[in-house]
Amino acid sequence: MSSVAGTSLPVVLPEGYALVEAPHPASLDDPDAWAYRAVADVAREIELETHGYDDLAVRPRDVLSGMDHQEYEAKRRFVVLRSAAARALAEDGARPAVHDVVAHLYVGRPLTSNEHLGEAYAFVRPAERGRGIGSALLDLGERLNLDAGRTVLFSDTSHGVEPPPGPGALEATTGAGRVPADAPGPRLLRSRGYVLEQVERHSVLDLPVPRETLDAHRDAARERAGDDYRLHTWTDEVPDAWLDQVALLFTRMSTDAPTGGVDYGEDPWDARRVRIWVGEQAERRNGFLVTVAEHVPTRTLAAFTVFAYPRERDDFAFQEDTLVLREHRGRRLGMLVKVANLDALAVERPATRRVHTWNAQENDHMLAINVALGFRPAGVWAAWQRRTAPAQDRA
Ligand SMILES: CC(C)(COP(=O)(O)OP(=O)(O)OC[C@H]1O[C@@H](n2cnc3c(N)ncnc32)[C@H](O)[C@@H]1OP(=O)(O)O)[C@@H](O)C(=O)NCCC(=O)NCCS
Repeated sequence: MSSVAGTSLPVVLPEGYALVEAPHPASLDDPDAWAYRAVADVAREIELETHGYDDLAVRPRDVLSGMDHQEYEAKRRFVVLRSAAARALAEDGARPAVHDVVAHLYVGRPLTSNEHLGEAYAFVRPAERGRGIGSALLDLGERLNLDAGRTVLFSDTSHGVEPPPGPGALEATTGAGRVPADAPGPRLLRSRGYVLEQVERHSVLDLPVPRETLDAHRDAARERAGDDYRLHTWTDEVPDAWLDQVALLFTRMSTDAPTGGVDYGEDPWDARRVRIWVGEQAERRNGFLVTVAEHVPTRTLAAFTVFAYPRERDDFAFQEDTLVLREHRGRRLGMLVKVANLDALAVERPATRRVHTWNAQENDHMLAINVALGFRPAGVWAAWQRRTAPAQDRA
């Protein structure tokens, strides 16, 4: 048994391991950055295990910037150390080596919306599994969230392959999407009462997309959209004049993208939050491209799509949010902005070879656009939820 520094919370870890709350360094050059560097190393090891590549692994800079920004979510990170390293840290201030960190836990609570939710994600290096470390970490995350009054517990798992329907597969409550029932994450979460509420398809688009494919989709989408829409593409910025409207598009992402059985309500954005998001991309040394469709007669933004990518790796990019406002749907604006953003990406980052994206398995319209562009399935991401009180009892 050990306890979390600064609290009396008990954590029952197996013999030989100790828990420490990750210190928050001023920069990655600070000796106290050891924990965030180790978190990224554990993440990378698990990504290599899951997918065979590390494109999706958080980097130390992502961890630092993420923890710097607590405007919209209260966040804590904990690491599990080998006992000898924990002792050397406590007694002599000796910073642990990366491989002395065997596991980590992220605990988050949204602050400005969805205040019933509490998130906890545990990650254990493959060689250290099956000893009770993952269970102890999830216990701690749940306890912290429940003590803070959260009534719906949320976690996730990732899988490199979606299993075919059958006895080895567990289906989401949406009826769309499956995970391997016997994989460690699903086993751990199910045994603690979590329900698989949604599965997202992870897809990859190999670049370059053939010129004829892009031309055909661009022409068809332009014809359907008519003359009322004008496209703008912004690199690494959102112009001040459009901040409020981009905030509305981000807000609509939280209500209009399907969330399956996950108890997730509107998450409002404003101009300040868009500015913070732009700043975070710079802190993480990410570049980004936003293409929007302006409805010219009303000077409002009808649609947007976003690519983000790490500057130090030019071989991949992430297709992030895409949304068409309800009143502008059915005019192929989703395809129009996506093709324009792909055109911009080819100019901005000609060396990029693949784009990763995630879409709810039940999101037929978005998946249809992506499949038409050439995205292929590359795994699944699963959303798990445990309700601890009836929905009507929530504040
Ligand atoms: C899920 C994970 C955190 C479990 O860590 P761990 O330290 O091995 O966990 P524990 O030793 O406490 O075991 C907890 C449960 O995990 C499952 N599990 C552990 N090892 C397993 C294995 N080799 N195969 C299948 N399931 C396994 C079992 O259900 C186990 O409970 P049981 O022993 O009562 O059957 C770890 O496998 C991991 O990091 N996976 C990748 C990240 C992830 O999926 N996290 C999601 C949970 S928040």
